[in-house]
Amino acid sequence: MQENQTRERIRFRDEGPETDDFMAEVVENLSRERKTLPCKFFYDKTGSALFDRICELDEYYPTRTEIALLERHGGEFAELSGPACHVIEFGSGSSVKVKLLLDRLEEPAAYTAIDISRDHLIDATSALAGEFPELDVEAVWADYTQPLAMDREKENGGRRLGFFPGSTIGNFSPDEAQGFLERSAETIGAGGSMLIGVDLKKDEDTLIAAYNDREGVTAAFNANLLARINRELDGDFDLSGFSHDAVYNREHGRIEMHLVSERDQTARVGNRRFDFRAGETIHTENSYKYGIEQFQGMCREARYEPVRAWTDPDGMFSLHYLDVA
Ligand code: AVJ
Repeated sequence: MQENQTRERIRFRDEGPETDDFMAEVVENLSRERKTLPCKFFYDKTGSALFDRICELDEYYPTRTEIALLERHGGEFAELSGPACHVIEFGSGSSVKVKLLLDRLEEPAAYTAIDISRDHLIDATSALAGEFPELDVEAVWADYTQPLAMDREKENGGRRLGFFPGSTIGNFSPDEAQGFLERSAETIGAGGSMLIGVDLKKDEDTLIAAYNDREGVTAAFNANLLARINRELDGDFDLSGFSHDAVYNREHGRIEMHLVSERDQTARVGNRRFDFRAGETIHTENSYKYGIEQFQGMCREARYEPVRAWTDPDGMFSLHYLDVA
């Protein structure tokens, strides 16, 4: 009963996202000259639990550093955004970080969470609505990388504030990141703002350790992609035949994660077969790192005017506050 009452407090909007064709994308990506797998497929139940463990690792500095920045500068976000804000989160997940923001803003009026994972979206926004009784909470089931029609009827005079934490933008190629910035500015609209978390360029050893931890949690997270293919697509990948690797590609300014074939082998996915040479890799993720000015330059190209940027004392991670021009 309690559950139902909470659920009635959120509005749900189905934007009919195209759901992924896991099989088709796996086959297409493994058929390339340089084999790849899209990193969005990391996050099944097992993968999401492994990612939560990554966020707790000593070596993985981004999560705790960003949370500290959100806590330290809450007063400034409130001052920049003003009262009765409408917060719009792109890829809301478990909505943990946005609570730190909502706690500090001056009487936020509304929160729109956009996410592709329907069940997770409804659970997280329902719980959040229970914790913020004054807040008008809307859950939009959509692909946040696509342009979104926002309901402008219920405007309350407050500023719209986009929120995109976690350096998720680093998983996009620079072109995709540019495209996301343009579309998000469109969704937020003139007069609104954006708060975005971006991992910074830094020494290579620190970066590699963050993506190749001693306990092997990131290795398990990477390997789960093959386990998932075995489970869901009738695959026969030998998990012991592939090892985790994380390298820093200096030319592109990105960490790359790979699964390296330990030997010549063949793996089956459904009725397709894929051959691997010893040492051949499946490229599973890019995580781009940006300098502050470099990122601000991209924002200016995408209709945003940088207002303020914050970093921690060690210069590990950045938060950017941008106005939609
Ligand atoms: C999802 C962007 C936060 O690239 O750092 C963590 C995912 N991959 N460890 C990142 C990830 C390996 C992560 N983000």
